[in-house]
Amino acid sequence: MLMWDETLFRDPDVFEIDYIPEQFNHRESQMRELAFMVRPGMKGGRPLNTILKGLPGTGKTTTVRKIFSDIEDTTSKMIPVYVNCQIDNTKFAVLSQVYKKITGHNPSAAGNSFKRVFESVAQLISEDEKVIIVALDDANYLVYENELNKLLYILLRSHETYPKTRIGVITIISDMDVDLTTVIDARVSSVFCPTDIYFPPYQEEEVRSILSERVLQGLYPGVLSDALLDIVIGHTLASGDLRVGIDLLKRATLNAEREAERCITGKNISEAYQISKYLHLQFCLKSLKKEEADILRLIATLSETDEQLTMGSLFEALHAKNPIGYTRFYEIIKKLDAIRLVNLAFKEGRGRTRLINLRYEPDKVLSYLK
Ligand SMILES: Nc1ncnc2c1ncn2[C@@H]1O[C@H](COP(=O)(O)OP(=O)(O)OP(=O)(O)O)[C@@H](O)[C@H]1O
Ligand SMILES: [Mg+2]
Repeated sequence: MLMWDETLFRDPDVFEIDYIPEQFNHRESQMRELAFMVRPGMKGGRPLNTILKGLPGTGKTTTVRKIFSDIEDTTSKMIPVYVNCQIDNTKFAVLSQVYKKITGHNPSAAGNSFKRVFESVAQLISEDEKVIIVALDDANYLVYENELNKLLYILLRSHETYPKTRIGVITIISDMDVDLTTVIDARVSSVFCPTDIYFPPYQEEEVRSILSERVLQGLYPGVLSDALLDIVIGHTLASGDLRVGIDLLKRATLNAEREAERCITGKNISEAYQISKYLHLQFCLKSLKKEEADILRLIATLSETDEQLTMGSLFEALHAKNPIGYTRFYEIIKKLDAIRLVNLAFKEGRGRTRLINLRYEPDKVLSYLK
Protein backbone atom coordinates (compact mmCIF):
# COMPACT_ATOMS: atom_id res chain seq x y z
CA MET A 1 0.00 0.00 0.00
CA LEU A 2 1.32 3.45 -0.94
CA MET A 3 1.31 5.75 2.06
CA TRP A 4 0.76 9.52 2.01
CA ASP A 5 4.39 10.29 1.54
CA GLU A 6 4.89 7.62 -1.06
CA THR A 7 4.39 8.61 -4.63
CA LEU A 8 5.22 7.53 -8.16
CA PHE A 9 5.89 11.14 -9.19
CA ARG A 10 9.42 12.38 -9.00
CA ASP A 11 8.11 15.83 -9.98
CA PRO A 12 4.34 16.22 -10.56
CA ASP A 13 4.69 19.78 -11.93
CA VAL A 14 6.17 18.37 -15.10
CA PHE A 15 2.71 17.22 -16.17
CA GLU A 16 0.87 20.44 -15.43
CA ILE A 17 -0.76 22.31 -18.28
CA ASP A 18 1.17 25.54 -17.63
CA TYR A 19 4.54 23.86 -17.12
CA ILE A 20 7.29 25.41 -19.22
CA PRO A 21 9.64 22.57 -20.13
CA GLU A 22 13.32 23.19 -19.56
CA GLN A 23 14.14 20.90 -22.45
CA PHE A 24 12.44 22.31 -25.51
CA ASN A 25 13.80 20.35 -28.44
CA HIS A 26 12.55 20.22 -32.03
CA ARG A 27 11.63 23.89 -32.01
CA GLU A 28 15.13 25.32 -32.30
CA SER A 29 14.56 26.93 -35.68
CA GLN A 30 11.30 28.59 -34.59
CA MET A 31 12.95 29.86 -31.38
CA ARG A 32 15.88 31.25 -33.34
CA GLU A 33 13.65 32.90 -35.91
CA LEU A 34 11.43 34.53 -33.31
CA ALA A 35 14.43 35.72 -31.28
CA PHE A 36 15.90 37.24 -34.41
CA MET A 37 12.68 39.12 -35.20
CA VAL A 38 12.30 40.47 -31.69
CA ARG A 39 15.96 41.32 -31.19
CA PRO A 40 15.96 44.94 -32.44
CA GLY A 41 13.90 45.73 -29.33
CA MET A 42 16.74 44.68 -27.04
CA LYS A 43 18.67 47.74 -28.23
CA GLY A 44 15.72 50.10 -28.14
CA GLY A 45 14.64 49.63 -31.76
CA ARG A 46 11.28 48.48 -33.03
CA PRO A 47 10.86 44.68 -33.01
CA LEU A 48 9.83 43.08 -36.30
CA ASN A 49 6.29 41.70 -36.33
CA THR A 50 5.58 38.00 -36.67
CA ILE A 51 2.74 35.53 -37.06
CA LEU A 52 3.24 32.14 -35.40
CA LYS A 53 1.11 29.52 -37.06
CA GLY A 54 0.51 25.85 -36.33
CA LEU A 55 -2.09 23.36 -35.20
CA PRO A 56 -3.00 23.02 -31.50
CA GLY A 57 -0.28 21.56 -29.29
CA THR A 58 2.66 22.32 -31.58
CA GLY A 59 4.58 24.52 -29.12
CA LYS A 60 3.65 28.07 -30.16
CA THR A 61 2.70 29.35 -26.72
CA THR A 62 5.68 27.64 -25.13
CA THR A 63 8.04 29.24 -27.65
CA VAL A 64 6.73 32.70 -26.82
CA ARG A 65 6.82 32.09 -23.08
CA LYS A 66 10.43 30.95 -23.26
CA ILE A 67 11.53 33.89 -25.40
CA PHE A 68 9.68 36.28 -23.09
CA SER A 69 11.31 34.89 -19.99
CA ASP A 70 14.72 35.22 -21.70
CA ILE A 71 13.93 38.86 -22.50
CA GLU A 72 12.99 39.56 -18.90
CA ASP A 73 16.19 37.95 -17.66
CA THR A 74 18.34 39.91 -20.10
CA THR A 75 17.03 43.43 -20.40
CA SER A 76 14.65 45.93 -18.90
CA LYS A 77 14.64 47.93 -22.12
CA MET A 78 12.00 45.78 -23.78
CA ILE A 79 8.82 44.87 -21.91
CA PRO A 80 7.15 41.65 -23.09
CA VAL A 81 3.38 41.53 -22.66
CA TYR A 82 1.64 38.19 -23.10
CA VAL A 83 -2.10 38.36 -23.82
CA ASN A 84 -4.47 35.42 -24.01
CA CYS A 85 -7.03 36.72 -26.50
CA GLN A 86 -9.53 34.04 -25.62
CA ILE A 87 -9.93 35.93 -22.36
CA ASP A 88 -8.97 39.45 -23.42
CA ASN A 89 -10.74 39.68 -26.75
CA THR A 90 -11.33 43.40 -27.24
CA LYS A 91 -8.84 46.14 -28.01
CA PHE A 92 -9.51 47.71 -24.62
CA ALA A 93 -8.90 44.44 -22.78
CA VAL A 94 -5.59 43.93 -24.61
CA LEU A 95 -4.52 47.49 -23.93
CA SER A 96 -5.39 47.05 -20.27
CA GLN A 97 -2.97 44.11 -20.13
CA VAL A 98 -0.24 46.31 -21.59
CA TYR A 99 -1.03 49.04 -19.08
CA LYS A 100 -1.05 46.56 -16.24
CA LYS A 101 2.31 45.11 -17.24
CA ILE A 102 3.91 48.57 -17.26
CA THR A 103 2.33 50.05 -14.14
CA GLY A 104 1.52 46.95 -12.11
CA HIS A 105 -2.18 47.75 -11.83
CA ASN A 106 -5.35 47.79 -13.93
CA PRO A 107 -6.50 51.05 -15.49
CA SER A 108 -9.24 52.21 -13.15
CA ALA A 109 -12.49 51.08 -14.65
CA ALA A 110 -14.34 54.30 -13.87
CA GLY A 111 -14.25 56.75 -16.74
CA ASN A 112 -11.11 55.51 -18.41
CA SER A 113 -11.45 55.66 -22.18
CA PHE A 114 -9.32 53.67 -24.56
CA LYS A 115 -7.70 56.89 -25.70
CA ARG A 116 -6.78 57.94 -22.18
CA VAL A 117 -5.27 54.60 -21.30
CA PHE A 118 -3.33 54.52 -24.53
CA GLU A 119 -2.05 58.01 -23.88
CA SER A 120 -0.68 57.04 -20.52
CA VAL A 121 0.92 53.90 -21.95
CA ALA A 122 2.54 55.97 -24.70
CA GLN A 123 3.71 58.57 -22.23
CA LEU A 124 5.22 56.03 -19.85
CA ILE A 125 7.11 54.12 -22.52
CA SER A 126 8.44 57.17 -24.30
CA GLU A 127 9.57 58.81 -21.06
CA ASP A 128 11.56 55.73 -20.08
CA GLU A 129 12.50 54.86 -23.67
CA LYS A 130 11.04 51.40 -23.31
CA VAL A 131 10.06 49.08 -26.13
CA ILE A 132 6.93 46.97 -25.93
CA ILE A 133 6.53 43.55 -27.51
CA VAL A 134 2.97 42.24 -27.32
CA ALA A 135 2.10 38.60 -27.96
CA LEU A 136 -1.52 38.13 -28.99
CA ASP A 137 -2.06 34.43 -28.30
CA ASP A 138 -5.02 32.88 -30.13
CA ALA A 139 -5.42 36.14 -32.01
CA ASN A 140 -8.22 34.64 -34.10
CA TYR A 141 -10.48 35.67 -31.22
CA LEU A 142 -9.78 39.27 -32.17
CA VAL A 143 -10.71 38.75 -35.78
CA TYR A 144 -14.43 38.65 -35.07
CA GLU A 145 -15.81 42.16 -34.54
CA ASN A 146 -12.77 43.48 -36.40
CA GLU A 147 -10.94 44.14 -33.12
CA LEU A 148 -7.64 42.95 -34.55
CA ASN A 149 -7.51 45.70 -37.17
CA LYS A 150 -8.38 48.39 -34.69
CA LEU A 151 -5.83 47.16 -32.20
CA LEU A 152 -2.98 46.70 -34.67
CA TYR A 153 -3.70 50.09 -36.17
CA ILE A 154 -3.32 51.78 -32.83
CA LEU A 155 -0.31 49.80 -31.65
CA LEU A 156 1.67 49.89 -34.86
CA ARG A 157 0.95 53.45 -35.87
CA SER A 158 1.33 54.84 -32.36
CA HIS A 159 4.58 56.63 -33.27
CA GLU A 160 2.62 58.88 -35.61
CA THR A 161 0.69 60.35 -32.70
CA TYR A 162 3.16 59.71 -29.90
CA PRO A 163 6.69 59.96 -31.27
CA LYS A 164 9.26 57.64 -29.69
CA THR A 165 6.81 54.83 -28.93
CA ARG A 166 8.16 51.53 -30.21
CA ILE A 167 5.80 48.58 -30.23
CA GLY A 168 6.11 45.18 -31.92
CA VAL A 169 3.48 42.47 -32.19
CA ILE A 170 3.61 38.66 -32.22
CA THR A 171 0.33 37.16 -33.40
CA ILE A 172 -0.32 33.51 -32.63
CA ILE A 173 -2.86 31.58 -34.67
CA SER A 174 -3.78 27.91 -34.36
CA ASP A 175 -6.40 28.11 -37.06
CA MET A 176 -4.52 27.21 -40.20
CA ASP A 177 -7.28 28.66 -42.37
CA VAL A 178 -7.14 32.16 -41.02
CA ASP A 179 -5.27 34.08 -43.63
CA LEU A 180 -4.40 37.32 -41.91
CA THR A 181 -3.48 38.98 -45.17
CA THR A 182 -7.16 38.89 -46.17
CA VAL A 183 -8.38 39.98 -42.74
CA ILE A 184 -6.07 42.93 -42.31
CA ASP A 185 -6.83 46.38 -43.74
CA ALA A 186 -4.42 48.01 -46.16
CA ARG A 187 -3.67 50.82 -43.73
CA VAL A 188 -2.66 48.27 -41.10
CA SER A 189 -0.76 45.93 -43.38
CA SER A 190 1.54 48.71 -44.52
CA VAL A 191 2.92 48.91 -40.97
CA PHE A 192 2.37 45.30 -39.88
CA CYS A 193 4.45 43.47 -42.57
CA PRO A 194 4.72 40.28 -40.51
CA THR A 195 7.01 37.31 -41.05
CA ASP A 196 5.31 33.91 -40.76
CA ILE A 197 6.86 31.31 -38.49
CA TYR A 198 5.39 27.87 -39.04
CA PHE A 199 5.02 25.14 -36.39
CA PRO A 200 4.55 21.77 -38.11
CA PRO A 201 2.90 18.88 -36.24
CA TYR A 202 5.38 16.70 -34.34
CA GLN A 203 6.43 13.45 -36.00
CA GLU A 204 6.29 10.13 -34.17
CA GLU A 205 9.97 10.21 -33.16
CA GLU A 206 9.60 13.76 -31.87
CA VAL A 207 6.56 12.84 -29.78
CA ARG A 208 8.50 9.86 -28.45
CA SER A 209 11.49 11.95 -27.43
CA ILE A 210 9.37 14.69 -25.83
CA LEU A 211 7.23 12.27 -23.83
CA SER A 212 10.21 10.10 -22.81
CA GLU A 213 11.87 13.24 -21.49
CA ARG A 214 8.80 14.12 -19.41
CA VAL A 215 8.60 10.60 -18.01
CA LEU A 216 12.26 10.71 -17.05
CA GLN A 217 11.82 14.02 -15.25
CA GLY A 218 8.41 13.44 -13.79
CA LEU A 219 8.24 9.77 -12.74
CA TYR A 220 10.49 7.47 -10.75
CA PRO A 221 12.46 4.91 -12.76
CA GLY A 222 10.51 1.78 -13.64
CA VAL A 223 7.08 3.34 -13.08
CA LEU A 224 6.20 3.26 -16.79
CA SER A 225 7.30 0.38 -19.01
CA ASP A 226 8.45 0.97 -22.59
CA ALA A 227 5.52 -1.01 -23.92
CA LEU A 228 3.03 1.23 -22.10
CA LEU A 229 4.89 4.35 -23.20
CA ASP A 230 4.32 3.15 -26.76
CA ILE A 231 0.60 3.06 -26.08
CA VAL A 232 0.68 6.60 -24.74
CA ILE A 233 2.58 7.71 -27.85
CA GLY A 234 0.01 6.02 -30.09
CA HIS A 235 -2.86 7.85 -28.37
CA THR A 236 -0.98 11.13 -28.63
CA LEU A 237 -0.37 10.70 -32.35
CA ALA A 238 -4.01 9.76 -32.93
CA SER A 239 -5.13 13.07 -31.52
CA GLY A 240 -2.23 15.01 -33.04
CA ASP A 241 -1.91 16.97 -29.79
CA LEU A 242 0.96 16.59 -27.31
CA ARG A 243 -1.29 17.75 -24.51
CA VAL A 244 -3.22 14.50 -24.72
CA GLY A 245 -0.06 12.51 -24.04
CA ILE A 246 1.08 14.71 -21.17
CA ASP A 247 -2.34 14.65 -19.54
CA LEU A 248 -2.59 10.91 -20.06
CA LEU A 249 0.71 10.34 -18.25
CA LYS A 250 -0.49 12.39 -15.31
CA ARG A 251 -3.89 10.73 -15.02
CA ALA A 252 -2.54 7.21 -15.47
CA THR A 253 0.00 7.81 -12.71
CA LEU A 254 -2.68 9.17 -10.39
CA ASN A 255 -4.83 6.12 -11.16
CA ALA A 256 -1.92 3.83 -10.32
CA GLU A 257 -1.36 5.66 -7.05
CA ARG A 258 -5.03 5.42 -6.13
CA GLU A 259 -4.89 1.69 -6.66
CA ALA A 260 -1.66 1.52 -4.68
CA GLU A 261 0.28 0.09 -7.61
CA ARG A 262 4.05 0.45 -7.75
CA CYS A 263 3.99 0.88 -11.48
CA ILE A 264 1.44 1.99 -14.06
CA THR A 265 -0.72 -0.75 -15.59
CA GLY A 266 -2.43 -0.95 -18.98
CA LYS A 267 -5.75 -0.56 -17.20
CA ASN A 268 -4.56 2.67 -15.55
CA ILE A 269 -3.78 4.01 -19.01
CA SER A 270 -6.97 2.95 -20.73
CA GLU A 271 -9.06 4.44 -17.92
CA ALA A 272 -7.09 7.68 -18.02
CA TYR A 273 -7.48 7.86 -21.79
CA GLN A 274 -11.25 7.97 -21.42
CA ILE A 275 -10.73 11.45 -20.00
CA SER A 276 -7.55 12.66 -21.67
CA LYS A 277 -8.80 12.01 -25.17
CA TYR A 278 -11.32 14.85 -24.86
CA LEU A 279 -8.58 17.34 -24.18
CA HIS A 280 -7.82 17.59 -27.87
CA LEU A 281 -11.50 18.09 -28.60
CA GLN A 282 -11.65 20.99 -26.15
CA PHE A 283 -8.56 22.69 -27.52
CA CYS A 284 -9.64 22.18 -31.15
CA LEU A 285 -13.06 23.65 -30.62
CA LYS A 286 -11.54 26.92 -29.57
CA SER A 287 -9.88 27.29 -32.96
CA LEU A 288 -13.16 27.04 -34.88
CA LYS A 289 -14.89 30.01 -36.40
CA LYS A 290 -18.61 30.33 -35.67
CA GLU A 291 -19.55 29.04 -39.10
CA GLU A 292 -17.37 25.96 -38.61
CA ALA A 293 -18.64 25.33 -35.11
CA ASP A 294 -22.20 25.52 -36.46
CA ILE A 295 -21.45 22.85 -39.04
CA LEU A 296 -19.78 20.66 -36.44
CA ARG A 297 -22.83 21.08 -34.23
CA LEU A 298 -25.03 19.95 -37.10
CA ILE A 299 -22.78 16.95 -37.77
CA ALA A 300 -23.01 15.99 -34.10
CA THR A 301 -26.78 16.39 -34.04
CA LEU A 302 -27.23 14.33 -37.20
CA SER A 303 -24.77 11.71 -35.91
CA GLU A 304 -26.96 11.07 -32.90
CA THR A 305 -29.26 9.00 -35.10
CA ASP A 306 -28.10 5.64 -36.45
CA GLU A 307 -28.11 6.79 -40.03
CA GLN A 308 -24.70 7.06 -41.70
CA LEU A 309 -23.97 10.70 -42.48
CA THR A 310 -22.77 11.46 -46.02
CA MET A 311 -21.42 14.66 -47.51
CA GLY A 312 -24.58 14.94 -49.60
CA SER A 313 -27.03 14.53 -46.74
CA LEU A 314 -25.08 16.94 -44.56
CA PHE A 315 -24.94 19.58 -47.27
CA GLU A 316 -28.68 19.26 -47.83
CA ALA A 317 -29.47 19.59 -44.14
CA LEU A 318 -27.16 22.56 -43.87
CA HIS A 319 -28.40 24.28 -46.98
CA ALA A 320 -31.93 24.28 -45.60
CA LYS A 321 -30.77 26.75 -42.92
CA ASN A 322 -27.75 28.44 -44.40
CA PRO A 323 -27.26 29.15 -48.13
CA ILE A 324 -23.57 28.33 -48.03
CA GLY A 325 -21.70 27.48 -51.25
CA TYR A 326 -20.44 23.94 -51.74
CA THR A 327 -16.82 25.05 -52.06
CA ARG A 328 -16.83 26.79 -48.68
CA PHE A 329 -18.70 23.85 -47.18
CA TYR A 330 -16.11 21.43 -48.53
CA GLU A 331 -13.26 23.56 -47.18
CA ILE A 332 -14.79 23.48 -43.72
CA ILE A 333 -15.24 19.72 -43.80
CA LYS A 334 -11.63 19.32 -44.90
CA LYS A 335 -10.53 21.47 -42.00
CA LEU A 336 -12.56 19.41 -39.51
CA ASP A 337 -10.89 16.34 -40.99
CA ALA A 338 -7.40 17.91 -40.81
CA ILE A 339 -7.75 18.75 -37.14
CA ARG A 340 -9.06 15.26 -36.53
CA LEU A 341 -12.54 16.09 -35.35
CA VAL A 342 -14.15 14.10 -38.16
CA ASN A 343 -12.95 11.36 -40.43
CA LEU A 344 -13.79 11.33 -44.14
CA ALA A 345 -14.14 7.97 -45.84
CA PHE A 346 -15.40 6.57 -49.13
CA LYS A 347 -18.25 4.11 -49.17
CA GLU A 348 -17.22 0.69 -50.48
CA GLY A 349 -18.67 -0.23 -53.86
CA ARG A 350 -21.44 2.07 -55.01
CA GLY A 351 -19.93 5.16 -56.65
CA ARG A 352 -17.86 7.59 -54.66
CA THR A 353 -20.17 8.46 -51.80
CA ARG A 354 -18.27 10.21 -49.06
CA LEU A 355 -19.02 9.34 -45.47
CA ILE A 356 -18.47 11.64 -42.53
CA ASN A 357 -17.75 10.11 -39.18
CA LEU A 358 -17.39 12.12 -36.04
CA ARG A 359 -14.30 11.07 -34.08
CA TYR A 360 -15.94 11.74 -30.73
CA GLU A 361 -19.29 10.80 -29.26
CA PRO A 362 -21.90 13.28 -30.52
CA ASP A 363 -23.14 14.15 -27.03
CA LYS A 364 -19.57 14.99 -25.90
CA VAL A 365 -19.08 17.26 -28.91
CA LEU A 366 -22.39 18.99 -28.29
CA SER A 367 -21.67 19.51 -24.63
CA TYR A 368 -18.19 20.94 -25.28
CA LEU A 369 -19.58 23.17 -28.03
CA LYS A 370 -21.70 24.90 -25.41
N1 LIG B 1 9.14 20.68 -28.23
C1 LIG B 1 8.53 20.44 -27.07
N2 LIG B 1 9.19 19.87 -26.05
C2 LIG B 1 8.57 19.65 -24.88
N3 LIG B 1 7.29 19.94 -24.63
C3 LIG B 1 6.57 20.51 -25.61
C4 LIG B 1 7.15 20.79 -26.87
N4 LIG B 1 6.19 21.36 -27.65
C5 LIG B 1 5.09 21.44 -26.92
N5 LIG B 1 5.29 20.92 -25.69
C6 LIG B 1 4.28 20.80 -24.63
O1 LIG B 1 3.04 20.53 -25.27
C7 LIG B 1 1.99 21.30 -24.72
C8 LIG B 1 1.36 22.17 -25.77
O2 LIG B 1 2.27 23.16 -26.20
P1 LIG B 1 1.84 24.67 -26.47
O3 LIG B 1 0.85 25.08 -25.45
O4 LIG B 1 3.06 25.50 -26.59
O5 LIG B 1 1.14 24.51 -27.87
P2 LIG B 1 0.39 25.58 -28.78
O6 LIG B 1 1.00 25.45 -30.13
O7 LIG B 1 0.42 26.92 -28.14
O8 LIG B 1 -1.08 25.00 -28.83
P3 LIG B 1 -2.49 25.80 -28.99
O9 LIG B 1 -2.56 26.27 -30.41
O10 LIG B 1 -3.53 24.77 -28.74
O11 LIG B 1 -2.50 26.91 -28.01
C9 LIG B 1 2.59 22.08 -23.58
O12 LIG B 1 2.31 21.40 -22.38
C10 LIG B 1 4.09 22.08 -23.85
O13 LIG B 1 4.80 22.04 -22.66
MG1 LIG C 1 -1.14 28.07 -27.35
